[in-house]
Amino acid sequence: MRAQTKIPPPSRQRPPFRTNGERGESYKKPPKRTPVSTSDLTFTNRIRDKHTPIMSTGAGKTVCVTGASGYIASWLVKLLLSRGYIVRASVRDPNDPRKTEHLRALDGASERLQLFKANLLEEGSFDSVVQGCDGVFHTASPFYHDVQDPQLQKELIDPAVKGTLNVLNSCAKTQSIKRVVLTSSIAAVAYNGKPRTPEVVLDETWFSNPDFCRETKLWYVVSKTLAEDAAWKLAKEKGMDMVTINPAMVIGPLLQPTLNTSAAAVLSIMKAGAQTFPNATFGWVHVKDVAEAHIKAFETPSANGRYCLVEKVAHYSEVVNTLKKLYPSVQLPEKCADDKPYVPTYQVSKEKAKSLGIEFIPLEVSLKETVESLKEKGFVDL
Ligand SMILES: NC(=O)c1ccc[n+]([C@@H]2O[C@H](COP(=O)([O-])OP(=O)(O)OC[C@H]3O[C@@H](n4cnc5c(N)ncnc54)[C@H](OP(=O)(O)O)[C@@H]3O)[C@@H](O)[C@H]2O)c1
Repeated sequence: MRAQTKIPPPSRQRPPFRTNGERGESYKKPPKRTPVSTSDLTFTNRIRDKHTPIMSTGAGKTVCVTGASGYIASWLVKLLLSRGYIVRASVRDPNDPRKTEHLRALDGASERLQLFKANLLEEGSFDSVVQGCDGVFHTASPFYHDVQDPQLQKELIDPAVKGTLNVLNSCAKTQSIKRVVLTSSIAAVAYNGKPRTPEVVLDETWFSNPDFCRETKLWYVVSKTLAEDAAWKLAKEKGMDMVTINPAMVIGPLLQPTLNTSAAAVLSIMKAGAQTFPNATFGWVHVKDVAEAHIKAFETPSANGRYCLVEKVAHYSEVVNTLKKLYPSVQLPEKCADDKPYVPTYQVSKEKAKSLGIEFIPLEVSLKETVESLKEKGFVDL
């Protein structure tokens, strides 16, 4: 089995860190983050308060977050640290400052964040990362839409499916782990060929059909559907306590410096020169609600099964109209990308998410915070 290298937390002087005997980039203190500005500060503050921990629920507990540098995982690490957890965070390349600096800059990171190098495609890679943990949040999985044959299997399906099994097998060897929270997706729920129209309500009893997704070439959806299915089978076989979180399109402020796929979905209609909006309908949810749901799913003893997370299902035309109201002086696309009827909306039940205590942040606020963050990080100039 391949030995893993734990990356020691930086000392006060923050020397260059090392992995597998190599010297990495010198650590440079990242610029101080300015808070996301919105015109509706009162409302935003109220939302921030909702996510401010009342007590340190995680004090004395150690949890692992896989793919910690990712968009959702970075928020998860932030909220876990703020609750007092010790976080063992895996990244593929700890020598890449774009993957680690924003994590090291989080409150509590210097005392309680431990970085590890691990790859989903290497068997046993996560053994030492999950060792001694009370819980594991498995979020790492590629999220791209532009992968085609012949890379499909290697770049998308294998990391999702074999990677999930690798992580769960490592968890199964570790007695201390009480629960695994798997970041699945609405992709594993909603794509089965059943009609989705405004009166239809999806819920956690729905499962996507991989054959339908292959026929429609929805390869990311295939990867998430197969991964969740494989995870449930293994969890049952090993008697593992597992809960899945199934969010739709996740938006809201970015902590990482790079652009992730779901934030890019908003950027695509905001950037200069965008002429059309896609004829597509998605569920949308704020990243803080998603991170919060992961933690609640771990901390709530009665949590079980799957949790769909969707604040609102909206066609791009509605997203554009909301953005027009928020940014009246910005030129936004007026036309749909095709002349077909708009892809209909549908509903996603909030009942199970509410049972975890999730009160969803409204889409309008999520959009505003996404755009402000994209501006702050220089992805768009409005
Ligand atoms: N964003 C959404 O709208 C959305 C919605 C539903 C579900 N999800 C799920 O949420 C999770 C996180 O998504 P995200 O939006 O936060 O994406 P993201 O920012 O692209 O993060 C994906 C993470 O997966 C890691 N990863 C990919 N391949 C890997 C490999 N071979 N070995 C180790 N790590 C690997 C990446 O690590 P590196 O940084 O090292 O490349 C990255 O940290 C995924 O499981 C995704 O399917 C996302």
